[in-house]
Amino acid sequence: MQNTGYKLVQLASGDYSIHSLAHGETFHPVVGPVAEAEALYVNQLRLRERLAQHSGEFVIWDVGLGAAANALTVLRATRDLAGPIRVVSFDCTIEPLKFALQHAAALGYFGGYETPTRALLEQHAIQFTDGAHEVNWQLHLGDFPTWLAQSGARRAPARPAPGNHSQCAAAEFSAPPPHAILFDAFSPAKNPAMWTLPLFTHLFRRLDPQRPCALPTYSRSTIMRVTLLLAGFFVGVGHATGKKEETTIAANTLDLLPEPLDRRWLDRARRSHSAEPMVESVYRIAPLAAATRARLEQHPQFK
Ligand SMILES: C[S@@+](CC[C@H](N)C(=O)[O-])C[C@H]1O[C@@H](n2cnc3c(N)ncnc32)[C@H](O)[C@@H]1O
Repeated sequence: MQNTGYKLVQLASGDYSIHSLAHGETFHPVVGPVAEAEALYVNQLRLRERLAQHSGEFVIWDVGLGAAANALTVLRATRDLAGPIRVVSFDCTIEPLKFALQHAAALGYFGGYETPTRALLEQHAIQFTDGAHEVNWQLHLGDFPTWLAQSGARRAPARPAPGNHSQCAAAEFSAPPPHAILFDAFSPAKNPAMWTLPLFTHLFRRLDPQRPCALPTYSRSTIMRVTLLLAGFFVGVGHATGKKEETTIAANTLDLLPEPLDRRWLDRARRSHSAEPMVESVYRIAPLAAATRARLEQHPQFK
């Protein structure tokens, strides 16, 4: 991925967010970094309730660390809860976070977390006491699809996954299976490598079937939902955030989905002109192939 820089943008809400010049996309474009992270992740994942009921370490994968708005909003929202938390952040660049730290005052969400964030940038793994709990925060710097493919297959050394055109390099790194995943790549059109069926298939295989795990994402597109279903997830309608009247939440158990997609959604997907998952990191839209339609029919969610 070319890093040609970032700029600070002011949103209609008055909040500031970061814009990637290379991708032509703003990280949190509508309601601002904190409001979006609270709605899409903290509230939708019922993080406080799950953490309060949890014993042992609660593991969160933060896919697309970016400028750390999601990670820090989660830490701030849970700091009064005693249970230890591990955040495993993934990104192929630390440039947006370095840029964000230079603009911490305008962004407003770093307050009190500047020191651990700087330490994470330098050391890539830190441990600190935050309010009532212990936090372990790790950073995997590398290409996420490649790491997933290789760590799932327990292979090393790193070599790019087939069809992966990203310039991010992968490295050996291990992470415990998550209880929750903050999935925040750029859009499928701009960042197709992060939205393919192979990626989500590898991600689903990395989950522990005994460990309930949910993954919200801002996309509500049919193609995204079909991709998650075929990868093995159960998939449901997610909360509204900002101007998006609906998002998506996926999980390895139906118990974590307040509103699973039903057969009416399946009927609409069958008629959609854009529903077939991407298998390579090249953006394209197509209706469901006959074989995909047959696989969807067999998904336990629709039986
Ligand atoms: C929308 S931004 C994430 C914003 C971030 N969650 C925050 O709260 O500030 C998307 C991030 O995904 C990262 N990304 C894109 N492609 C990637 C890849 N192949 N591997 C790892 N990270 C990737 C980008 O570098 C970028 O930082």
